[in-house]
Amino acid sequence: MKKSASATLVVAVSMAAVWSASFVAPRAEAPERQQDERPFDQTISAHALDLFAKGRRTFRFDTFGDEHFWGDTLKLHQAIEGARFGGVGPGLSPAAALGAGLKVDSTALPQALIDGILNGTVNLNDPANTLALLRLNAVLGVVPIGATSNGGLQSVGVTCALCHSTVDDSVAPGIGRRRDGWPNRDLNVGAIISLAPDLSTVAALLQVDQATVRAVANSWGPGKFDAELFLDGKAFRPDGKTAATLIPPAFGLAGVNQHTYTGWGSVPYWNAFVANLEMHGSGTFFDPRLNDAAQFPVAARAGFGNVRADEDKVTAKLAPLHFYQLSIPAPAPPKDSFDRRAADRGRTLFEGRARCSTCHVAPLFTEPGWAMHTGDEIGIDNFQADRAPDHRYRTTPLKGLWSHAKGGFYHDGRFATVLAVVQHYNETFTLHLTDAEMNDLAEYLKSL
Ligand code: HEC
Ligand code: HEC
Repeated sequence: MKKSASATLVVAVSMAAVWSASFVAPRAEAPERQQDERPFDQTISAHALDLFAKGRRTFRFDTFGDEHFWGDTLKLHQAIEGARFGGVGPGLSPAAALGAGLKVDSTALPQALIDGILNGTVNLNDPANTLALLRLNAVLGVVPIGATSNGGLQSVGVTCALCHSTVDDSVAPGIGRRRDGWPNRDLNVGAIISLAPDLSTVAALLQVDQATVRAVANSWGPGKFDAELFLDGKAFRPDGKTAATLIPPAFGLAGVNQHTYTGWGSVPYWNAFVANLEMHGSGTFFDPRLNDAAQFPVAARAGFGNVRADEDKVTAKLAPLHFYQLSIPAPAPPKDSFDRRAADRGRTLFEGRARCSTCHVAPLFTEPGWAMHTGDEIGIDNFQADRAPDHRYRTTPLKGLWSHAKGGFYHDGRFATVLAVVQHYNETFTLHLTDAEMNDLAEYLKSL
């Protein structure tokens, strides 16, 4: 990955050279201006490269100091290392870690270790090997902090990559090259949180006991997390199902105005929100909407609307992090993953009779502007919309849909397949589509 990183940068630098070269000729008659402008053009290009590189590092490796929460407070590292290394319990083996959906970056592993994993000489049931993988910075989004005299960790932190990255499984299932921005729909965040030996802080925040916190976290299931739980304390929907939502992609977001399923704000808004309030990093966050004690009793009680840490480890990283995320394109579908002719027919329906493109406007596949709708407009309940300040759902950008079919579609995965989504719209909008037409529309969705 390091190699391809510098390759990308080289390409970008030479592109910058091409751009400035193409501006030299027309400006030749006005040399004074050229002298003034060219250096600033270069300043811009250099700035772009700098933001990109810093943002990627932040996305993958920065904990914003959240080890204070995950390690020092919840003591998650003790459950990972196990009693043998100074922690508690049996420890988390690599097999169990992969089973919980954690991913391993194969480019961080020495070849001997990859060989050992493939030929079975590396024991994937031994937590010592999880510690070894962590020390190689190979477990996506999990950052080991320090070392104790008996070989354990002093603490552990998490990064954005934990939930918003996967790997391409090129070495083995769960082990391969990074895919930044892809939602990890295998990751059982709740199961990992409930491993933590001390959830008293979370229990106190939510005014429940630790057993309840564990039961709630365990109710989320793979690929889901509840970003609003720490605000409103609502763990379950009125129908008794979990209130958690699917982890969304962090790719294909450039040009999209509102982010999150319910349009809390833009990427930099949400990044500040997550880094401070979800990951529990150390930073600054301001949003007086969270002072509304009726809608957000937990947040209002805890003062989440105005957070000021002694040391701000978040704010300086927001610009590069924003830039990097906007650089991540939605991945193109594999060649033979959909029926091209059906998809072409489906596109005509999408833009015509089925009226999809009134909201999903190509090529963003959301509305340019204020892309917010009530549950009524799309034929669903308002439970999740009502957990956000705008009480609405944001039109989801649809590119790269094929890459996150696992877990289903819509914010809570209520539709298992894209065909089920189409069937839902067919009923809600009384479109009178035939089965063949619905299938065409589904093929089109898979082609995006
Ligand atoms: C514990 C898992 C988890 C972690 C860690 C996490 N996120 Fe998320 N992220 C989510 C979930 C779940 C949502 C959906 C929230 C919602 O809509 O209510 C989300 C939403 C988003 C969105 C909105 C996507 C869209 O379609 O508009 C972006 C962007 C994002 N996260 C970026 C980040 C960044 C950057 C970080 C690190 C600072 C981060 N996330 C850390 C789980 C996570
Ligand atoms: C009134 C605006 C509107 C129209 C019209 C509309 N959508 Fe949507 N679409 C939305 C909103 C809002 C969501 C988010 C729903 C949620 O997450 O609960 C969404 C979500 C989706 C999703 C799920 C994406 C994901 O990642 O989970 C798909 C697929 C989709 N729409 C396809 C279509 C198709 C196909 C049509 C035409 C038949 C259509 N939409 C018409 C607003 C619209």
